[in-house]
Amino acid sequence: MAISGGIAAYKCCNLVRLLVKEGASVQVILSPDATKFVSPLTLSVLSKNTVLSQFYNADDTWNNHVELALQNDLIVIAPATANTIGKMAHGICDNLLMATYFSAKCPIMFAPAMDLDMYAHPTIQENIRKLQKQGNILIPSGYGELASGLVGLGRMAEPEIIFDTIASYFTNQSTALQNKKVLVTAGPTYEAIDPVRFIGNHSSGKMGTAIAHSFAKSGAEVVLVCGPGVQQNTSHNNISRIDVMSAEDMLHVCKQHIGKTDILVMSAAVADYRPANKATQKIKKKDNVLTLNLVKNPDILSYLGEAKKEHQIFIGFALETRNEKSNAQEKLKRKNCDLIVLNSLNDKGAGFGTDTNKVTLFFKGKKSKELPLMSKQKLADELVQESVKLLSTRKVTKEKKR
Ligand code: PMT
Repeated sequence: MAISGGIAAYKCCNLVRLLVKEGASVQVILSPDATKFVSPLTLSVLSKNTVLSQFYNADDTWNNHVELALQNDLIVIAPATANTIGKMAHGICDNLLMATYFSAKCPIMFAPAMDLDMYAHPTIQENIRKLQKQGNILIPSGYGELASGLVGLGRMAEPEIIFDTIASYFTNQSTALQNKKVLVTAGPTYEAIDPVRFIGNHSSGKMGTAIAHSFAKSGAEVVLVCGPGVQQNTSHNNISRIDVMSAEDMLHVCKQHIGKTDILVMSAAVADYRPANKATQKIKKKDNVLTLNLVKNPDILSYLGEAKKEHQIFIGFALETRNEKSNAQEKLKRKNCDLIVLNSLNDKGAGFGTDTNKVTLFFKGKKSKELPLMSKQKLADELVQESVKLLSTRKVTKEKKR
C-alpha cells in the first residue's frame, strides 16, 4: 500500500484495516508528504507491520526499494496525488515510494485524488492515460465534496470501493484457469554415458517452476515434470511434481498426462541426443580420445504436437544463439504450437540460471510481441495471461462453428 501526500490519506487507515482483516499481508510506504496527513504509528498498528517513508533510517540502515518492490503481489497507490501521478508518468524518482514503484514487477493500481480543476487539467488526464497505457490499473475518482469545499470529480474512490477492486482482482486471478489442467516441463534432461557421467545442460528449472506457480495461482491443476537438479520450491496445493532423468523418461510421463491436459508448456531444455549405448560400468580412462556415438532423442513437443487436440493450447520455448526469429517461427510451425517463447543467449539476463528473462512471443499467424527484460515470475504471469486469451479465442471460434 503506497500512500502519497493528500488529505484522502487518512481514509487509507480504513483500507489497511479492511485488507488486514481479510488476511492480506500489508506493507505501507508513505511519501514524505503523506506523513503530514496520516501518522506512521497509526498505519503501523493497523497493518501490524513497520511503515516505511525514507530511503535511510536513523540507525544508518537503508530500505531496499528493489526488495520492497519485488516482494509484493500488488501495489496500490492511494491516494495518488497529481504530483505522484506526474512523477510516475515522467520517471521522477525522488522518494522511497517512487523508487519502489519504478522497481516493481507486480501489477500496480492507482487511485487519483485531487481538486476538480487539477483532475480535469489536460496534462493530468494525459498522465493518467499514459499510466493506463503502461498497464497500471486505474481506480477512478468519484464525484463529491472535495477538501477545498468545491464539489466535483477528483475525490479518491472510497476505501470500500478500492478494497472491492483489490479483492475482485485476486479472485479473478485465482479462478481464471479453474478446472483447467496444465502440463509443464522444467529443467534439463540428463542422458547417461555410464553410471557416473551424463550429457546435460545448464537449465536450472527456474523458468519452468515459475510457470508452474503462476498457473497454480490461477486455479489450474498443474502437473510439473522436472528434469534432474531442479532445486526450486515447487510446493503448492495445485502442483503435482514428477521427477525424471532423461528425455525418454520425460516423454513417457508427458504421454501419460497429455490426454487430460488443456495447456502444455514445454520449458524444459531437453537433450537432442543421447549416447547410443549406456556403459554398464564406469568407463575407464585409457586412450587420449574417447568417441561417443550419439543417437537422436525423441522430440517430445513435436511428438505431442502431432496428436494435438483442437481444444489444447501448446506453448513451446526456443533457445537460440543465431537466426533467432526465423528459427523460432520454424519451431512454432513444425512443433504445432500456438505460441513459441523465444529466448536468446545473446541477450543479457536471458536464458539459463538467471532470475530474469527477455523473450519475444511468436503466435500462430505471424503475430509477435517483444517483452522487456523481466523476472521469470513476471514472465510466467504474462504466459498465464496469454493462455487465458488463447483459450477465450478458442471458445469464440468453437461458438462460431456451431
Ligand atoms: O531452466 P532455466 O535455467 O530457468 O532456463 C530456462 C530455459 C532457458 C531452459 C528456457 O527458457 C528455455 O528456453 N527452454 C527451452 C530450451 C530448449 O530446449 O529449446 P529448443 O529450442 O532446443 O527446443 C524447442 C522446444 O522443443 C522447447 O519447448 C523444448 O522443450 C522442446 N524440445 C526440444 C528438444 C526435444 N528433444 N524435445 C522437446 O520437446
